[in-house]
Amino acid sequence: MPRKILVTHALPYANGQLHLGHVLESVQTDIWVRFQRMRGNDCLFVCAEDTHGTPIMIRAQSQGQTPEQLIAAVAKEHRQDYDDLLISFDHFHSTHSAESTALSREMYQRLRDAGHIARRSVRQAYDEQAKMFLPDRYVRGTCPRCKSADQYGDSCEVCGATYSPADLIEPRSTVSNTTPVWRESDHLFFQLGHFEGMLREWLSTSRLQEGVRAKLEEWFAAGLQDWDISRDAPYFGIEVPDAPGKYFYVWFDAPIGYPASFKALCALRGLDFDAYWKAGSDAELYHFIGKDISYFHTLFWPAVLHGSGMRRPTSVFVHGFLTINGQKMSKSRGTFITARHYLERLPAEPLRYYFAAKLSDGIEDIDFNLDDFTARTNSDLVGKLVNIASRCAGFIQRAGGTLGTTLAEPALQAEFVAASEQIAALYEARHYSQAMREIMLLADRANQYVDQHKPWVLAKDPARAAEVLAVCTQGINLFRVLMGCLAPVLPAMTQAATKFLNTDLSRWEALSKPLLGTPLNAYEPLATRLDPARVAELIVPASVPADAASKPAQVAAASGAAAATKKSATQTAKSKSTEPLAQIDIADFQKIDLRVAKVVAAEAVEGSDKLLRLTLQLGDEQRQVFSGIRVAYQPEALVGRMVLMVANLAPRKMRFGVSEGMVLAASGSDDSSGLFLLSPDTGAVAGMKVS
Ligand code: MSP
Ligand code: ZN
Repeated sequence: MPRKILVTHALPYANGQLHLGHVLESVQTDIWVRFQRMRGNDCLFVCAEDTHGTPIMIRAQSQGQTPEQLIAAVAKEHRQDYDDLLISFDHFHSTHSAESTALSREMYQRLRDAGHIARRSVRQAYDEQAKMFLPDRYVRGTCPRCKSADQYGDSCEVCGATYSPADLIEPRSTVSNTTPVWRESDHLFFQLGHFEGMLREWLSTSRLQEGVRAKLEEWFAAGLQDWDISRDAPYFGIEVPDAPGKYFYVWFDAPIGYPASFKALCALRGLDFDAYWKAGSDAELYHFIGKDISYFHTLFWPAVLHGSGMRRPTSVFVHGFLTINGQKMSKSRGTFITARHYLERLPAEPLRYYFAAKLSDGIEDIDFNLDDFTARTNSDLVGKLVNIASRCAGFIQRAGGTLGTTLAEPALQAEFVAASEQIAALYEARHYSQAMREIMLLADRANQYVDQHKPWVLAKDPARAAEVLAVCTQGINLFRVLMGCLAPVLPAMTQAATKFLNTDLSRWEALSKPLLGTPLNAYEPLATRLDPARVAELIVPASVPADAASKPAQVAAASGAAAATKKSATQTAKSKSTEPLAQIDIADFQKIDLRVAKVVAAEAVEGSDKLLRLTLQLGDEQRQVFSGIRVAYQPEALVGRMVLMVANLAPRKMRFGVSEGMVLAASGSDDSSGLFLLSPDTGAVAGMKVS
C-alpha cells in the first residue's frame, strides 16, 4: 500500500528575497519528497507565501505600495527562484487568500467555542502620529541596564538584557521617530497551558529529533504561557470574526497556510481535505523547518490543530542554520547570498548536491564553504559519476549503439542493487550526507571496474569487440543504478540521463532490473565543471567604505550610513591615514552598478540634522535613499536634478526607513570644505549606466 504523505516547508515571508538559507530548506524538503514519490508513495508537497504582519505593512508603505502590490511582486520572484531551483511543489499558495481567511476564522471559532481563548487587556506602546500600536521591535531607546543608546524594545544587543519597551529610557517609535505613549487594548489569548498533557503525549509519539525534544522539555519546565494571537488595526492581516478592528497575529494564520494551501490543491485535483486534516486521518503529515521556529511548530501548532478538532503533525523535521565560509550570513561581509544572485551565475544542481552532501537529520548548523563546494561537486559529479557514463558511451555507439544482452558481472550489479536499498533507507531517515557518501563510494567502484577492464585497450583488437560491449554495458548499468539513486537530488541531470539511456528512472524499483539489449541515444555531457571564478562571485563585494567620505578630495558615497557614522568614520580614517587604499582591478570596479538617477522628491528627515530623504528615479524604478547632504543642500533645490548613484548596494534599514542606494558626492579633507554632489553632463537620462 502506498503511504499517503503530505509535506510542507516553512512559508517564506513575502517581503524579501530568498537567500541560500531558504534554499537549504527547500532542497532538503524537495529531496525527501522526490524520494518518496520514487518509492511509489503518494506524496504531496505544498507551501505558500507568508504575507501578513507589521513588517510587510511598513515596508509596503515605505515603498509607496499597497501590501497587496508588495506581496504580489515578491511572490513572483519567489516563484521563479523555486522553479529554477527545481523545487517540485504540488501547490504554492498565499496566506492572503480566501482559503486562509476562511480556515483561520473557522479554526479560531472552534478554539473559542471549546473554551481555549481568553480575552484580557494589554498595555502597549502606541505611536500617536502613525496611529498604530508598536510591536516591541519598532520601539528603540536607551537600554535600562547598560545605558547603550538605540536598542530594540525587547532586548539589548550590547549587554543582552531582555525587558519590555516600557523599560527603555527615552523610547522612540521607529515608524515616525516620535515618543510613543502607553495605551490599553483588549487582546485575545490562546491558552496553550490547556494542552500540556496532549503535547507531552504527542512528544512521545512524534519521534522528534533529540535536540528538539530536549528544547520541548525545557519549555514544559518553564511553563506554557498563554499566547497573544490578536493585533489592533491598522494591521495587514485577517480580521477576527467576533472582534472588529482586531486582526489575527501573523503567526496565528501563518501555519494555517499549510492546510489552506492544501485546500486550494484539493479544489484543483479533487482531493479530500478531511482525509488529510481531520482528527484520526491516516495520512502522514510532516513539516520541514529551521530551528528558530520550533516553538511555533512543536507547541502552538499541534495545540491549535488539536484544539480545533484536526489531526496533529506526524512529525516536525528541524534543520540547522546555513553559514557561509564558517560565519553567519551577513550583508556587511557580502555573504548574504540571495537565491537569484546564485542562479544568475551557477546552475542549481551542484548546489542541491552540495547541500545533500552536508545535510543530516541533525539540527547543527551547516557550512557552505565556497572552495569545498567547487572541489566537491567537480570531483563527485563530473570526476566520478558522469565519468562512468562518458567513458562507456562512445564504445557502445561504435558497436552499433545498442547495449549488450547480458551483464559481464552480475554479482557486481547485485551488489549495487542491494546498496541502493540501503541508500533508500538513508534518504527515508534524512541522512542525505551518508547517502551521498555511499553513492560516491560505489561510483569509485564502478570507475575501478572500467579501469580494470580497459575497454580502450580491448577496442584495439577487433576480435575482442564482444568483450568491449560487455564491459561497457556493465559500466552503463552501474551508472544507471547510481543515477537513479541520485534522482531525488539531481532531477534535471536524471532527466538527461533518462533520455540518453532510454530508460525509466522515475521509480526506485526499476533500478533492480538491468537494462539490456536496448538502444542508447547520443551521449551529451551530463554535467560540466564549476568555474571557480563564478563561484567566487557569490560573495558580494563590500560596499564603498564609509570612511572614504572624509578622505581628501575623494569622490565618496554620501549615504545616510556614512553620515550617521561620520564621527567614528573620521577617526577610522585618521588611524588608517598612512595606509594607501588597496588597488582594485576592472572586475572589482564593474561590480559597482553606477547609474544616472533623477531626484524626483527630496525632504528633510525629522529628527536628523544630517539626512535628506531622496526619491530617485532610475529608469522605470524608484528608490528611496537617505543621504547625509543636508548641510550642503536645500531639499527643494534638488528636485529635478540628475545625480550619480550606486544602485546595487544592499538595502540598509535605518531608523527612518530603508535606504536603497547611495548618491555620489565629493568632499574635502575636513567637514568645512563642503560637500559637492556629482552630476552627469546635460543630456544624460535617468537609468543610464556609468562606466
Ligand atoms: N514566515 C516564517 C515561517 C512561517 S511557517 C508557518 C519564517 N519565514 S523566514 O523566511 O524567516 O524563514 C523561512 C525558513 O527559512 C525557516 O524555516 C527558517 O528557519 C529558514 N531559514 C532562515 N534563515 C536560515 C538560514 N540561514 N539557514 C537555514 N535556514 C534558515 O520564519
Ligand atoms: Zn544593555
